[in-house]
Amino acid sequence: MEVVIVPDAKAGGALIAGAMADLLRRTPDALLGVATGSTPLPVYEALAAQVRSGSVNTSRARIAQLDEYVGLTADHPESYRSVLRREVLEPLGIGMDAFMGPDGTAEDVQAACEAYDRALTEAGGVDLQLLGIGTDGHIGFNEPCSSLVSRTRIKTLTEQTRVDNARFFDDIDQVPHHVITQGIGTILEARHLVLLATGEGKADAVAATVEGPVAAVCPASALQLHPHATVVVDEAAASKLK
Ligand code: F6R
Repeated sequence: MEVVIVPDAKAGGALIAGAMADLLRRTPDALLGVATGSTPLPVYEALAAQVRSGSVNTSRARIAQLDEYVGLTADHPESYRSVLRREVLEPLGIGMDAFMGPDGTAEDVQAACEAYDRALTEAGGVDLQLLGIGTDGHIGFNEPCSSLVSRTRIKTLTEQTRVDNARFFDDIDQVPHHVITQGIGTILEARHLVLLATGEGKADAVAATVEGPVAAVCPASALQLHPHATVVVDEAAASKLK
């Protein structure tokens, strides 16, 4: 695992956007796995600036979703499909025809999860998966004690994660209780994992990820098992590393 400490979130965003742009120059139809939440926004902003300046071409790029709320329709403003359309696809000039994600409104959610895992494999696998991290060490919505070999499946959100995500809704009662998330085993199949963590609130989770044992109690520690994992942290998030 490679750990890169950057001065701030903007520098982290620029670094990762640079890696994504290099990948797209080498592999124009690369499949980029993307996360939602606040942390990746500087990455998307920096990559969008490169698209606007013409230094990278996204016309053949493909985007894969990491996780989705169960029960929010695709056009609900806080479904992750909508969020990614606003924050990633539109700014990068990528159409929804190049987007893949699980169906959070499927009648048979388990079948939808299995179908998404198969679709990722059939698409050739994710080339670069961008991850954030929860204060409890979750990646995607694999909360602590998720199996490290789990596949895409339905999960129940912890109360803490619902509280953390309530800022995107009018009130906490609107935050769904269930999500579909790529499993940790699914995530580990991406060819390159890039985790970005910024701010002091992530410092304990980053220390457990990088310096703790590989353990289900900190799902992100599974990155230690991956042959090509990069953890990009700002100085605040690195503050508890030895
Ligand atoms: C969301 C996701 C989550 C977030 C994590 C951190 O797609 O995968 O694991 O990355 O909850 O969220 P922020 O970045 O908002 O602190």
